[in-house]
Amino acid sequence: MFFERPESGEVTILVHISIESDKERKDLIEFEELALSAGAQPAEFITGTRKQPSPNHFVGSGKLEEIAAAVRAHKAQLVLFNHALTPSQERNLEKVFECRVLDRTGLILDIFAQRARSHEGKLQVELAQLEHLSSRLKRGWTHLDRQKGGIGLRGAGETQLELDQRMIGQRIKAIKKSLSKVRSRRELGRRSRSRAEVPTVSLVGYTNAGKSTLFNSLTNSDVYAADKLFATLDSTLRRIDLPNFGAAIVADTVGFISHLPHQLVEAFRATLEETSSADLLLHVIDCAHESHEDYIEEVNDVLEEIGAESVSQLKVFNKIDLLDAFYPRIEYGENGVPNKVWISAQKGLGLEALLQAISEVLAGSLVSETIRIAPDQTRLRSKLYEKGFIEAEHIDESGFYHLGVRLPKVELERVVQQGAVIEQTPELVEMTNSVWVSEEHARTA
Ligand code: GTP
Repeated sequence: MFFERPESGEVTILVHISIESDKERKDLIEFEELALSAGAQPAEFITGTRKQPSPNHFVGSGKLEEIAAAVRAHKAQLVLFNHALTPSQERNLEKVFECRVLDRTGLILDIFAQRARSHEGKLQVELAQLEHLSSRLKRGWTHLDRQKGGIGLRGAGETQLELDQRMIGQRIKAIKKSLSKVRSRRELGRRSRSRAEVPTVSLVGYTNAGKSTLFNSLTNSDVYAADKLFATLDSTLRRIDLPNFGAAIVADTVGFISHLPHQLVEAFRATLEETSSADLLLHVIDCAHESHEDYIEEVNDVLEEIGAESVSQLKVFNKIDLLDAFYPRIEYGENGVPNKVWISAQKGLGLEALLQAISEVLAGSLVSETIRIAPDQTRLRSKLYEKGFIEAEHIDESGFYHLGVRLPKVELERVVQQGAVIEQTPELVEMTNSVWVSEEHARTA
């Protein structure tokens, strides 16, 4: 299967029809951004209102003629509708306009096809494209100019159009099989991470918020970041070290958009599931964008749809360099746990504050226990001192250390794996008599 790189730039007519209450301006801006992101060259933006879509052409006869005239005037090669069209509406419109027509789902799929990087991402896009296409592959395509690589025909596009339904069905089956293999490998990885008690921190956020840039700054890696929507399609994992905490895995995920067609949420469910199993979500927000408040809501809606609404969330207000008089800082919620951090991922402002806030949130589930470690486990003991986890210490006559510790739950599990034993009935008498560890003691330990 080929994933052709696009020849960008197609003269396009954009069409947005407000259906009753759905008249919000932000939709229009986003639609234009999506079209540009796909490489379209918008020649004219036609808007209108209607009570209900017309079953044959979505728009009424007057609007139909207006769009057709714009297509002729600009010699447009594509008409993009900011709506879901039925296969027959799409075909009927193409007959009238004599050029390609694409609906919102087709447009988003096209963008996804350009951005997919991993094997899994490509398979997911191809599957979603084929499923979207198969319902449209009846008749009526023959009149189209079959030029290669246009918007909406990338990814699986043109090659697949030549195939009949049966072959598409076979391909869909094969992709599903490969996907389930990739997924079981992903599941294995996730399980081994959870066995190792390494917490996962997932970056989520509206598309273009700066997730990839932040991911790169935090992990010094080189994930592709572009000023286009959906630069990230595949969940990417990297390890980071957190101050006073230890290791964590950071996962970069696909950017969310408003009104993500449901079938796409389905298609990317596996990638998004990484999100619902995360220990912490970093909700990245472009605080310089005028609609950022709405976007926060949209992202939370998608999180709810994928069952990730109860995962702890730290809001990361990014791009403070674009605002006046904003400086990096952490804001704390009523429970004393950080809930907002203000940063600039691109300029590297506030990254340390962010790491600290992540540690604090992950450590939010601090536990106090008494543990016993063997006389020869001096390295483990000094590590615990180094991290500031030890609050009290008592050495019994056999040389065993009884340590009063306060530390993140995940750390405790790690320490137990390394041989420490949680004391069910701690030697409380001795502990109360023992010296509480002073800072000086900790330094010399
Ligand atoms: P998707 O993959 O589409 O979801 O986008 P993303 O959230 O991963 O955004 P990405 O990191 O690709 O950044 C989008 C654009 O914002 C790029 O042009 C970045 O250079 C820019 N950007 C990211 N962080 C900052 C920042 O702190 N300040 C400024 N001024 N621009 C930033």
